[in-house]
Amino acid sequence: MRWVAAGTDPQRAFATTPAECLRLPREPQAALSVEVGRAAFGTPVLLGGQAARAGLTCESCHRAGRDNPDFQFPGASGAPGTADVTLSLFSSHRGNGVHDPRPIPDLSGPRTRLTVAPADLATFIRGLIVEEFDGPEPAPAVLAGLAAYVRALEPAACPRPARAPVTVARLMDDARRALTAAEAKLAAGDAATAVAMVAAARARLGLIHERYAGMATEQARLRAADAELATVQAAIREALPGAAADLRRWPTDSRPLEVALTAAEARSLFNPARLSQAKTRRLPAPPS
Ligand code: HEC
Repeated sequence: MRWVAAGTDPQRAFATTPAECLRLPREPQAALSVEVGRAAFGTPVLLGGQAARAGLTCESCHRAGRDNPDFQFPGASGAPGTADVTLSLFSSHRGNGVHDPRPIPDLSGPRTRLTVAPADLATFIRGLIVEEFDGPEPAPAVLAGLAAYVRALEPAACPRPARAPVTVARLMDDARRALTAAEAKLAAGDAATAVAMVAAARARLGLIHERYAGMATEQARLRAADAELATVQAAIREALPGAAADLRRWPTDSRPLEVALTAAEARSLFNPARLSQAKTRRLPAPPS
């Protein structure tokens, strides 16, 4: 809510999301790469420094891989829907000292409207992460996955209706998809990417958690589920033998949590009526 223009209708901006125009490749390894990219796209730790601390992800600007007409980051945007990605606020490498916000493009195209050629996507995205956002060097499969995800977005794949409701079920599904990708990557011996995928699932839990503001029981359960994932992450990093089994168990173990969250969903900020009552909290622009 801090990153949208004053006066944005919270119901439209936060109770729904644009439809994702994603065509998953049929070939399993290609599909896995897209799933890895899809999960990384919503993970703050992917972007380093200031952006990660603020919780910014690719998805903050490119909602569902699209644009974000409401986006207005204090100090980084001009008109709503624009951002300056060469800003020293985010980057110690590329900050050009000039405030030149550009419209956030819809990454699903059409292709003719995009400027980065499909073959150059990995290089471009690495530049975004490492130079513009001061992020750490991403795992090779994460970078390849982000490029594969962007390539798999296309107008012909846009589903109807054009907007979808934001629900607990949808965010939990994203978390499980990320963990499925984590399992596959761990089985293939790519621990770094598996860790990044667990981070992606945890980021989804974070998005759920903030919508249960003021609901102590639900938030405590979410924190417990997150703590389990943190343990799994550590186990993968340390190559502990139980890591794969724990990873496999989480999606099933978390079903009762999802049932409880869904039962309480109407009292949370997933309820569009409650969102409307929530105040948009704007931060002052940082000093330039
Ligand atoms: C702060 C908002 C913001 C964030 C975060 C962000 N982008 Fe962008 N992105 C933009 C803007 C603005 C442009 C257009 C830049 C320009 O025109 O020079 C852009 C351009 C792009 C393009 C080029 C599109 C084309 O025309 O071919 C790609 C690909 C892209 N972003 C992917 C990503 C990925 C992947 C991430 C996460 C690692 C990300 N973006 C994070 C705002 C953002």
